[in-house]
Formats: sequence, structure tokens, C-alpha cells
Amino acid sequence: MSFETTLPFLGGAPLGIFGAGHLGRAFARALLASGFPSDQLAICHRGSPETTQALAADGLSAQVASRETVTDRSRILFYLVRPQSYLALGDQEPPKESLRVSFLAGIPLAKLPGAASGAQWVRVMPSSPDTILGRNGIAAIYPAHPVVAEILSTLKLRLIPLAREEDFHAFTALGPCLPLALTLWESLGKPIDEPELAALGKRHGLPDYGAVITWAQEVRPRDFSDADQETYLRQAATPGGITEAIFNAIRAGVSLPDALKKGIERNRALAQS
Ligand SMILES: NC(=O)c1ccc[n+]([C@@H]2O[C@H](COP(=O)([O-])OP(=O)(O)OC[C@H]3O[C@@H](n4cnc5c(N)ncnc54)[C@H](OP(=O)(O)O)[C@@H]3O)[C@@H](O)[C@H]2O)c1
Repeated sequence: MSFETTLPFLGGAPLGIFGAGHLGRAFARALLASGFPSDQLAICHRGSPETTQALAADGLSAQVASRETVTDRSRILFYLVRPQSYLALGDQEPPKESLRVSFLAGIPLAKLPGAASGAQWVRVMPSSPDTILGRNGIAAIYPAHPVVAEILSTLKLRLIPLAREEDFHAFTALGPCLPLALTLWESLGKPIDEPELAALGKRHGLPDYGAVITWAQEVRPRDFSDADQETYLRQAATPGGITEAIFNAIRAGVSLPDALKKGIERNRALAQS
């Protein structure tokens, strides 16, 4: 599959990437690697020298554009700032019939810039940047949208359409965090009970959760030394974040489903803060 619905939708306008951190750069690289036209990709960020350097190292300098180009010309805008910066886009009107895609954890559609005045938003929660670059990621989407679905599928992300926006809380803990939780769980010498996990996903209304468990088992690193595994787990657990909440519960000795539930609770708390 290519971008056969996306390119006519764009009609020659850019796909803008607003925020060029870990995830923004991964999406930009994956789009170009999948054949997206390089002259239709426009990236902006806040201007940190580290990000400017990282964009150059990733071969993305030619795609860097002004904030105005990204906000005023993009027919599709990928919103990739941190959740606490969710107002960064400002409240100017988006181009007519344009589409905005938020990847921000925990920020509901109703709170996104322009939503109250009719801007069209879709929410996506993908797995980590390395899985996007490795073309073996997953992504939940709500509400369904054919153009967004085509882009994500072209990047080889397995799509999980959610029935309700509320389901992002469970998906974030039980989806993208699952490879990490399984890695820590097994490193403590504990066996993984897949039927028990499948029941947890079902209880939280996640469709096709068995496929997510299979995905997590496939993508988690298995050939790491103990030291590398330690680094992998430490880097993944942002202080105060969802993964850290799951890790703390696992280390406190609760069952794996109960630890994952702590991640769901943490996600809800972050969304309300
Ligand atoms: N990383 C993951 O594994 C992952 C997975 C799923 C979802 N997410 C979501 O994806 C989003 C991005 O995560 P990340 O890890 O890529 O974050 P990040 O590395 O901190 O990147 C954030 C980017 O936003 C830019 N930015 C901040 N304020 C801006 C402004 N006013 N105008 C333009 N750009 C601005 C920053 O610019 P500077 O670099 O110039 O400061 C930076 O490039 C988050 O909301 C997160 O919840 C991340």
C-alpha cells in the first residue's frame, strides 16, 4: 500500500510535523522511507540546538520549515509536542478541510487547540519510536479516519481502532508499555500467563488484544545482556510516567495484571492533571 488516498487529500499541500522530538523525527524518517514525497514534508520545532542537530543527523534538515508554513499550509498536521505543551499550536484557524492528528498521551480531543471552534482532530497512540522505525509498531486510533489509517498502515503500524476515546487509558498501559512490562516481569524469573493478560484486555474493552500480546512478545528484546536490559528498562521509565507506575507495582510484588492496572490508573491521573 502507498499513499494513494493521502496524496489526493493533500492536493500538493504539505504534511506538517509540529514537534521534532523522538517521536516526530521517527515519523518523519518512516514517512520518507515509505516513499512519502520529501518536498511535501514540513517539520517545525521550538528551536532547540539539540533538535536542530538531531534533525541534521537524521537527514531531515531540508524538511525543516517555519512554524507558519507548518501551521498555515499543512493539510494534514501531526501534533507531536509533550502533553504539558498541548496548547503550543495556538488557536489560529487551521486551513480549510485540513486534518490534525494528535499523538499526545492523555490529552482528550475536546481540549486540543481549535477543537471547540470546529478543527478536525483524530487521536493516535503509537508504540515507541524504535518500533515505528523498525516497521513493527502498533497504534490505536480514535475516531476512525481513512487517510490517517492509510498513513499508519503504510508505515506498517498495526492499527487498533478504539470504540471510545476513554479506551486510550487502557490501551496506553496495556499496548505500548506491554513489551517493557513483560521484559521486567521475566527478568524477575516469573512466568507470563497470556490467557490472564488476554482476559485483562477484554475486560478493558480492547479489541483483538491477543494480537497485541503476540506483538509485545515479538518486539521485546531477548538477546540483551543483563546490563543492556537494565539500561533499556531504566531509559523507558520516565519519572512520574505510566511505565514507571507499572514497574514500581511489579517490583512491589503485585500480579502482572494488577501492575498493568496501576499503569491505567496513572494514565487517568495524568490526563486529569
Ligand atoms: N516517545 C514515545 O515513545 C511516545 C509514544 C507515544 C506517544 N508519545 C507522545 O508523543 C509526543 C511527543 O513525544 P516525544 O517523546 O517525541 O517528545 P520530545 O522528544 O520531548 O519532543 C517534543 C518536541 O516538541 C517540540 N515543541 C515543544 N514546544 C513547541 C512549540 N511551541 N512549537 C513547536 N515545537 C514545539 C520540541 O521542540 P525542541 O526540540 O526545539 O524543544 C520537541 O521537538 C508526546 O505528547 C507523547 O505523549 C510519545
